[in-house]
Amino acid sequence: MTERSLILVKPDGVQRNLIGEVLSRFETKGYKIVDLKMLTPTEEILTQHYAEHEGKPFFRPLVEFMSSGPVVALILEGERVIEGARTIMGSSDPTTAPAGTIRGDLGRDWGEAVQKNLVHGSDSPESAEREIAIWFGA
Ligand code: TYD
Ligand code: MG
Repeated sequence: MTERSLILVKPDGVQRNLIGEVLSRFETKGYKIVDLKMLTPTEEILTQHYAEHEGKPFFRPLVEFMSSGPVVALILEGERVIEGARTIMGSSDPTTAPAGTIRGDLGRDWGEAVQKNLVHGSDSPESAEREIAIWFGA
């Protein structure tokens, strides 16, 4: 079943010149980039994107971090790409994300209130549809 996932290279990934490294991991796995753009996200788009986390202690630091500079937003396509991209990314906390994953190999804790973990990927078909609409329109 072909799926689409919304992927973001977060501001830390862009600042650290890791766009190519991050995207190549998805591409070499065999997934297809079918749309892509660079932008500095507004608070409005981030509040929609992270609606499930509103009210949590890390929400404000997360929105501030995510709006601090440009991100690369892309749509990735392939069979079971939503689950596959999450596997390539590794778990949320970069300190404990498994080696071999983007977050595990390239991320670490920087002693801040927010986990700078380089990349976002949709976590379900429902999230993917919602997030693609937010970042790329209907
Ligand atoms: P979440 O959706 O739980 O993780 P993921 O990005 O793996 O789907 O959280 C969204 C982002 O919020 C996460 O990438 C980093 C940040 N975050 C924190 O800064 N601290 C936290 O304790 C959690 C759970 C998330
Ligand atoms: Mg999430």
